[in-house]
Amino acid sequence: MGKDGKVRPAILFLCLGNICRSPLGEGAARAAFAAAGIDAHIDSAGTGNWHVGHPPDRRAQAEAQRRGIDISGLRARQLVRDDFYRFDLILAADESNLRDALAIRPDDATAELCLMLDLVAGRAGQGVTDPYYGSDEGFAATWEDVAAVASALAARWSTSG
Ligand code: 4NP
Repeated sequence: MGKDGKVRPAILFLCLGNICRSPLGEGAARAAFAAAGIDAHIDSAGTGNWHVGHPPDRRAQAEAQRRGIDISGLRARQLVRDDFYRFDLILAADESNLRDALAIRPDDATAELCLMLDLVAGRAGQGVTDPYYGSDEGFAATWEDVAAVASALAARWSTSG
């Protein structure tokens, strides 16, 4: 419960490394919920463990900073089974992340699991492209995608309370 008696949404952004897409999603969602005045628990994780403990990729940090959002303090962690009970919603960046998450999902999981862009009108079924091996422009495209997801989330909880 939040301070006003409303249910506090708990949302986990999920990608592969937890250093590019999901920390950008976390930053965008934190900003969108704060702007909407909604108390929410927002976190991010990766299906892989290569970057555990690392801050977001410097290109992701720069992309968020351009929007006035500081994600430098985030540290990567790996998805764990318990996340399927601690969160209401787990948002996978792409189909591969979705499959990897399904592989460890407990049978009695309470979290809903879907793609990030399933929440955005006209984008259902699409993945957020991994910008890690690409150019800086890829991070701007990632930002546009996760910002649309964040807006959809804040709108959903603004109306459903
Ligand atoms: P992310 O991007 O899943 O959006 O954080 C990646 C980051 C690192 C790797 C792959 C994707 N990697 O293979 O190290």
